[in-house]
Amino acid sequence: MLNFELYNPTNLIFGKGQIEKLSALVPKNTKILLAYGGGSIFKNGIHEQVLKNLEGFEIVEFGGIEPNPHFETLMKAVEIMRNENIGFILAVGGGSVIDGVKFISAAVKFEGNPMEILHKRMQIKENAIPFGTVLTLPATGSEMNSGAVVTIQSTQEKLAFGGSAMFPKFSICDPTVIESLPKRQIQNGVVDAFTHVMEQYLTYPHDAILQDRIAESVLQTLAEIGPEVVENPTDYKLASNFMWSCTMALNGLLNKGVPVDWATHMIGHELTALYGIDHARTLAIIGPNLYRTMFETKKEKLAQYGERVWHVSGNTIDEKANQAIEKTVEFFHKMGMNTKLSEYTENYEDTAAFIVNRFSERGWKGLGEKQNITLEKVKEIVELSY
Ligand code: NZQ
Ligand code: ZN
Repeated sequence: MLNFELYNPTNLIFGKGQIEKLSALVPKNTKILLAYGGGSIFKNGIHEQVLKNLEGFEIVEFGGIEPNPHFETLMKAVEIMRNENIGFILAVGGGSVIDGVKFISAAVKFEGNPMEILHKRMQIKENAIPFGTVLTLPATGSEMNSGAVVTIQSTQEKLAFGGSAMFPKFSICDPTVIESLPKRQIQNGVVDAFTHVMEQYLTYPHDAILQDRIAESVLQTLAEIGPEVVENPTDYKLASNFMWSCTMALNGLLNKGVPVDWATHMIGHELTALYGIDHARTLAIIGPNLYRTMFETKKEKLAQYGERVWHVSGNTIDEKANQAIEKTVEFFHKMGMNTKLSEYTENYEDTAAFIVNRFSERGWKGLGEKQNITLEKVKEIVELSY
């Protein structure tokens, strides 16, 4: 097992009705920015619940944070934060709102142009405005991790940053919030979380036995409940296991002591930046083709995953590994995903060249757990995804 440090200060408050604890969690002596997205929280009553539980607090509202939050929008909130001297932010939403709030938190006291946070993929360790979250969409794990992804609209770049100061102080996770989610977003949540586990698990055989077993248990749970929770979002057993699986998939536990990949996400982010495809759907397009292209590197682990998660059988590693990829694609289809780029856009021919060029400009020469996903391989993966 590789050496590791495990640090996670987020107070995760999980379960039905936990929003009632909100007033005890936010600081008493400062103005609060209440940040949200396009308005779903007005329709499902979550906005009302938040205000009810924050009676007596001085609140400034900031709405309109879009899916795949835009730097340009977030900078408007930064301006308000500075002018109004606000000392705490409450994110009420999914990954986009929470990630957006992480950026606002980092940018308010940043000396220089906050765009640097994104371009330099900075690790923010201090001078952040504290924030908490009320999660409304299980998927990203952003409620219990210190990462965020923000899009610069003017250049169509989707860039990640993070750092130890980017953990939420608290996150309220009430599984009943999924009742108002469109099916598409529940499907996205399952596939995003599933791929988060794969990024930290599907590498090569190593000594971290427990990490593999934890990862496999999250995958098994998502495989079991994923299709059902889409159809029955009011079933609390399904909803609670779905929400907890999403948090566990990316709260910094699974990557401890093991090699990690993350190339599916890096390539996927480009598809969102270019074509606006939902984050999870880009992963369903790229993931299986990355496993196919990197078959020799990943086949032992693919075979293990196939046996333990999908119960495939076969005589050789190659046979089991191939079946594992097919089972994954089957699962993504069952989860309502299209797995080809051409099913989302007609103008896909130049995508591989564009992405390779971008990665090359950024100096990314080799991605993945062995840094052997070269630009040539990236091209192959994207072309296979057309
Ligand atoms: O904006 P509103 O009106 O709230 O509507 C949202 C949005 O349109 C809606 N929604 C959210 N909760 C709802 C609801 N509708 C009805 N009822 C509810 N309870 O759902 C839509 C999508 O929301 P969004 O926040 O964009 O989805 P998600 O949570 O999937 O977040 C995606 C973003 O997170 C980033 C992605 O790249 C993407 O930008 N990621 C963040 C990560 C992290 N911080 O660790 C890791 C991930 O890999 C990912 O990259
Ligand atoms: Zn993701």
